[in-house]
Amino acid sequence: MKPQSSPKTYRVKSFGCQMNVYDGERMAELLGERGIQPAPEGEEADLVILNTCHIREKAAEKVYSDIGRLVKAGNKAGKAPLIAVAGCVAQAEGEEIMARAPAVSIVVGPQAYHRLPEMLDTAANGGRATDTDMPAIAKFDALPGRKKRGPSAFLTVQEGCDKFCTYCVVPYTRGAEISRPFAHLVAEAQKLVETGACEITLLGQNVNAWSGEDDKGRKTGLGGLIRTLAEIDGLERIRYTTSHPNDMDDDLIAAHGEVDKLMPYLHLPVQSGSDRVLKAMNRQHTAESYLKLLEQFRAVRPDIALSGDFIVGFPGETEAEFEDTLRIVDEVRYAHSFTFKYSPRPGTPAATMEGQIAAEVMDDRLQRLQARIAHHQFAFNKASVGKTCQVLVERTGKLPGQWLGKSPWLQSVWFESPAAIGDLVEVTLDEAGPNSLMARLRQTITV
Ligand code: 5AD
Ligand code: SF4
Repeated sequence: MKPQSSPKTYRVKSFGCQMNVYDGERMAELLGERGIQPAPEGEEADLVILNTCHIREKAAEKVYSDIGRLVKAGNKAGKAPLIAVAGCVAQAEGEEIMARAPAVSIVVGPQAYHRLPEMLDTAANGGRATDTDMPAIAKFDALPGRKKRGPSAFLTVQEGCDKFCTYCVVPYTRGAEISRPFAHLVAEAQKLVETGACEITLLGQNVNAWSGEDDKGRKTGLGGLIRTLAEIDGLERIRYTTSHPNDMDDDLIAAHGEVDKLMPYLHLPVQSGSDRVLKAMNRQHTAESYLKLLEQFRAVRPDIALSGDFIVGFPGETEAEFEDTLRIVDEVRYAHSFTFKYSPRPGTPAATMEGQIAAEVMDDRLQRLQARIAHHQFAFNKASVGKTCQVLVERTGKLPGQWLGKSPWLQSVWFESPAAIGDLVEVTLDEAGPNSLMARLRQTITV
């Protein structure tokens, strides 16, 4: 069955990190410019973009099974969709995808998706197009302006990674670290606020490695960018993710104590609490230097909520080394965390290291780590009861009259008074659960 020539509707399926969500939105905006509309809920789209993630295993198999499912659905509907594979699997395995999956018309890497429109022309004429180049020039310049979104928006400020942690594919799939220019970011943030955002999360694989020149030509880091963005009227909340401990500078730490709009939340992955494992991971920091850094944040912002990423079962990890990870979790008392079983990624140094850990051991360690993290998360939520804080309303709840928003500490907060999506409301936190809190509305704040 031939794909239909010019797609009229699209669907973007984004997997993985928030940067993929951001890229998915930008691709959608590009398609919108061409008059291609989002496919109505429940209907097959003419064009499907699989915006993939390669960070852990089975990513490629998942893509092939998604392609198979799309082809089957297309056969049933009597019209095959145009299929584009984007994101990090496209970058890492583009050629193989083209060879193995004839149903795929477009393979486009994360640094090349501004070229989607011309690639679509090729595909609509029955051709196939691949672009996995990683040019240093910003694709961002070629993208259209931002469109209306919800109250909370993402803004990619930095991409790529030069750290080469031995387990990680990101330096290979996203390329070297590049920072977007200051003026472009301020302009995009202003546009996001004009179109309804009152919270912006700055994104980057190493977001705190961002550097640029401000409007006066002075070299500035993420702290300086945040201070400038905080001057935008109508922008009420600023967040950033994900950071590397070694790229933290004094100005960014100080900003947490000085900029009210910068939310009291820090996602700072540590991965392991064992110095031997950290060294084998090439993290270039120790458990102690990480803890010292957190103390600096707590000194300027005592209520800061901390969050981390952890990998269990890195090659060679002993029981005692795993217990070091449990210890660091107890010491930091994280408000939230992401836990992963080590997954060997082809082409990374750790994949061929000795001492790969058995699946049962990894499962057991993951469960124990998750239990410890859940304990501290619940404790953090319980300690929040009685606080009065602002909540940004993001959606309606499951029950009628119920609303869900986020506290400054990124907790999910439920309340049952009249509100609207995008409202910033003041609430008192009444009751804590393991994953969320119940609150009472005090007042709605007009932004
Ligand atoms: N296996 C398991 N987890 C990984 N991460 C990155 N690469 C791997 C891997 N090969 C995790 C790290 C990182 C997060 C985004 O994903 O914890 O911080
Ligand atoms: Fe991957 Fe390490 Fe870079 Fe994070 S800092 S993206 S874990 S290589």
